[in-house]
Amino acid sequence: MQLRDDIFFYPSRNGMDFTGEINSNTILIRGPKHLLIDPGIILRWEELIESIRADGLKPEDIGLVFMTHCHPDHAEAAIKFKAEFKTELALGNLEREFLGGVGRTFYRKEFYQREKAGSRYQVHEYLQPDKSMMSPVFSGPFLYEGRQFRLYATAGHSPGGLSFHWPEAGLLAPGDNFFPGTIGAYDLPGGSLWALSRTISILNGLKDVELVLCGHGRPIEGQRNVRDNFEVLFEEIREKEAYKDAEGC
Ligand SMILES: [Fe+2]
Repeated sequence: MQLRDDIFFYPSRNGMDFTGEINSNTILIRGPKHLLIDPGIILRWEELIESIRADGLKPEDIGLVFMTHCHPDHAEAAIKFKAEFKTELALGNLEREFLGGVGRTFYRKEFYQREKAGSRYQVHEYLQPDKSMMSPVFSGPFLYEGRQFRLYATAGHSPGGLSFHWPEAGLLAPGDNFFPGTIGAYDLPGGSLWALSRTISILNGLKDVELVLCGHGRPIEGQRNVRDNFEVLFEEIREKEAYKDAEGC
């Protein structure tokens, strides 16, 4: 679905419901060569490709797939883009290192344990793209097809995640660091409440953000709603930090 002139959004079927199939939202920025952010899971890849075509765009014209972090609900379908279209893949440098170590297997283990514990999480046989498939990218200015984007090192949900910012369009894609109405999970390997709190402060400081497309959940549109959402996030962080304090951590 087209949200702005050159911004297309492909929401996952299950929104913020993490009890069934887990898939991320996908963003496409149209250009001479399109840029795609977070391709999602392989199970929904063909559906994604059809939706992109239905919007009058050619998936073959996607020049780069960028991932906010390595979790397979965001990154698994990168494997398909590489195999079918030879698309270049990009992941933050530190996250790429994490993917080469703990990040390679923990997600599947995590879900297996949750299933054993009686959770309704659906376990997929996720594939994890190999580190060697990914080009490393770094925080700072990010030039692509003549456009000036910025990447911010935003650990918290995962250790080397990068948030994507397009100042000219007022677009922010924070991955899973936060969602509409709540902060992201910080209890997965490499996550940290302290880092997440810092990340949210950094992202809150960005000027003129008027469209936030999180890794899951609906778009947050309009500067007022973006600001209000940050207030809700800070409140939640204050509560969590106070709780940790009381625990003596
Ligand atoms: Fe994630």
